[in-house]
Amino acid sequence: MDTLSAQQAIASNKAAWNESAEHHKTTEHWQGLLAGVGEPDFSCLDPTLTSVLLQVGIQGRDAVQLGCNNGRESLSLYGLGARSVVGVDQSDAFLAQAVELASRSPHAPEFIEADVHHLPEGVLGRFDIALITIGVLGWMPDIGLFMRHVASTLKEGGTLVIYETHPFLEVFDPEAANPMLPATSYFRREPFVQNEAIVYEGTSKSAAATSYWFVHTLGETVSAAIAAGLQISHLQEYPHSNREELYDRYENQAAQLPMCYTLTAVKRSA
Ligand SMILES: C[S@@+](CC[C@H](N)C(=O)[O-])C[C@H]1O[C@@H](n2cnc3c(N)ncnc32)[C@H](O)[C@@H]1O
Repeated sequence: MDTLSAQQAIASNKAAWNESAEHHKTTEHWQGLLAGVGEPDFSCLDPTLTSVLLQVGIQGRDAVQLGCNNGRESLSLYGLGARSVVGVDQSDAFLAQAVELASRSPHAPEFIEADVHHLPEGVLGRFDIALITIGVLGWMPDIGLFMRHVASTLKEGGTLVIYETHPFLEVFDPEAANPMLPATSYFRREPFVQNEAIVYEGTSKSAAATSYWFVHTLGETVSAAIAAGLQISHLQEYPHSNREELYDRYENQAAQLPMCYTLTAVKRSA
């Protein structure tokens, strides 16, 4: 692991996501998306993210989603009134699914295949809202560098909206003999390494390229946003789960863990 470079981790993660894509088309969830995206007001966003986006003011705005996967959340931004939507992801296999969903939608999002660390000129300084949702930050080896690229997509006064899983949950292993015991350090530096396909429901035994998942503490993420020239305007933690169903067991506990959070931050003038 000592010799793994950030570039190697990003490239390997790309291969892992591409090799996982086929598994995501065999689910009932995919069939539901195909059936639903034709509605002009289609949205798969939950009440928490919907409320934050409406408060920030998504209506009539130009939005980008970084790490958009199959584009279902990007398409949902139209349902909340966005004027234009761009989805960026480095997985061409998932973007092919995004294009398929968009072809059934009355809206016309643009999907761009790019590593967030190598964005095309055309997306720089262009957006009122940059959205990052569940399960994106952990693929980034350097949260400070990542946040600078994210900030570069915003106009001055534009807002970053994050709805992520809470990093403190990474301390627990839902498949351990006792899933309630801390299993690893919140401050671990080495990534979690996986050699199986990345799926959201259950666990996969199909081999795939190695993927690397990095834990960034909440403090590191907030500090990275500030260092990228963003002013934090909202940070809220929640007791509900927004991640894989394996984690549902941590909900509704008397001694409740934080399970997810929303953060908004505004790009200051240079
Ligand atoms: C968990 S998925 C999902 C995001 C979204 N919350 C969803 O549910 O559709 C994470 C996505 O980040 C993308 N990704 C990971 N590293 C990336 C990078 N360096 N640049 C662009 N996309 C990246 C992956 O290809 C994957 O589609």
